[in-house]
Amino acid sequence: MAAHEALRELAVSQTTAARRDTVTITDNRTGKSYELPISYGTYPLSGASIPAVELRAVKRSTEDFGLLSYDPAFMNTASCRSAVTFIDGERGILEYRGYPIDQLAETSTYLEVAYLLIHGELPTGQQYDAWEAGIKRESLLHENMKKFMDGFWHDAHPMGIFACTVGALSTFYPESKQVHDPGNRMRQIVRLIAKVPSIAAYSYRHSLGLPYIYPDVDRSYAGNLLNMLFNYPDGRDGQINPVIERAIDVLFILHADHEQNCSTTTMRAVGSSLADPYVSVASASSALYGPLHGGANEQVLRMLTEIGHVKNVPAYVERVKRGELRLMGFGHRVYKNYDPRARVIKRMFDDVFAVTGTNPLLDIAVELERVALRDEYFISRKLYPNVDFYSGLIYQAIGLPMDMFPVLFAIPRTTGWLAHWQEMLGDGEQKIARPRQVYTGPTRRDYVPMEGR
Ligand code: CMC
Repeated sequence: MAAHEALRELAVSQTTAARRDTVTITDNRTGKSYELPISYGTYPLSGASIPAVELRAVKRSTEDFGLLSYDPAFMNTASCRSAVTFIDGERGILEYRGYPIDQLAETSTYLEVAYLLIHGELPTGQQYDAWEAGIKRESLLHENMKKFMDGFWHDAHPMGIFACTVGALSTFYPESKQVHDPGNRMRQIVRLIAKVPSIAAYSYRHSLGLPYIYPDVDRSYAGNLLNMLFNYPDGRDGQINPVIERAIDVLFILHADHEQNCSTTTMRAVGSSLADPYVSVASASSALYGPLHGGANEQVLRMLTEIGHVKNVPAYVERVKRGELRLMGFGHRVYKNYDPRARVIKRMFDDVFAVTGTNPLLDIAVELERVALRDEYFISRKLYPNVDFYSGLIYQAIGLPMDMFPVLFAIPRTTGWLAHWQEMLGDGEQKIARPRQVYTGPTRRDYVPMEGR
């Protein structure tokens, strides 16, 4: 019987009279029992937990180190208490600060959501105006950043350029090291949210050998990004289609945060050493870059291109089932149901493709989803399309190359990283991140000189 099942049985076997918010563990090596407190999150599904450090009391003898919980990849470990984002993976629910993602995507704007994530509440009109003005004011990059970016090879992956350039901002703002000063922290947060679209757009223009376009404060956050990506340097083609502008804004809302994922965990871990937010965001971006995380949207499009035709879908799915490859954009550590973000993106297709013309890969994606959702392999493992399965189709339709997709993910996720960074720094229970290990190497032995080996 697995350890967690044994624990559950123990709890069930308690008499009604003895019921309390604790769990009792019996160490069968010694016969001793230990009672650990259970604490709860907001919702029944938002986590009941025991303090893992209390397990250290479970010892065979006083010399013993005590019990550790072993949890590779943090499959069942809460590393923090957080009030930013709630996910119910079984029911496919995502809320930012309590607001359902589909309501925000329907009615809010990315900058308003960014305010919500950072400050915890929706802004008043006055607060919003000040927030937006502050972000617009900070959207310019120091001229030296252009020289820095020029140093990259012309076909450098833009996500590599993005991560390095964000990290390099640390050298321009040395005061950002004062991470315990709330006012200073907020200045860096505004700066980062303001500057990441400019860095993203410059990384794209660099790959094309095109001159950079300065931010335009008269445009919306998404409109300014589109202008910096696609316009002529002299601003002659100022028209941004409002449908595309809104689509980017909605995609940014959907990607803004997703609680303790790989990159956010990186942000918290790096930030916990009191590193400044620029190098911390650079580290988080690097974690996002990987194909199992934010790099998945790029891999989805490569996969759909490789499949090439709807008729090739069944054979491709068979290869996935044989374990030869993974279906990119499918599956999630937390969602065991349809990713609510993927639903919102699907609803945007008609409007976007009416403007851009349809993406020929869309039919392959739809067929892939249809086949997979009826297949026992995917049903039994609860593998559903995630946010990355469909987002790339929109990015491609508006004219972005695949290697820009993770960068488009990193822009809004910067807000989520910063919200968690702030929360972590203000959390008295947090310290420098430092997991333990179970050592399995050789026992002590003496060095043997080379000639004796
Ligand atoms: N295709 C085929 N099989 C899969 C897939 C997939 N995409 N994902 C999981 N599985 C199988 C896996 O082989 C395993 O099967 P078995 O039990 O027979 O060994 C089972 O499902 C459980 O998989 P896991 O690797 O233990 O699950 P995980 O929680 O560690 O991985 C994941 C989560 C997202 C890394 C994984 O589902 C995956 O690699 N998906 C493809 C990449 C992707 O789309 N990533 C974007 C995630 S959403 C955006 C973001 O947060 O960045």
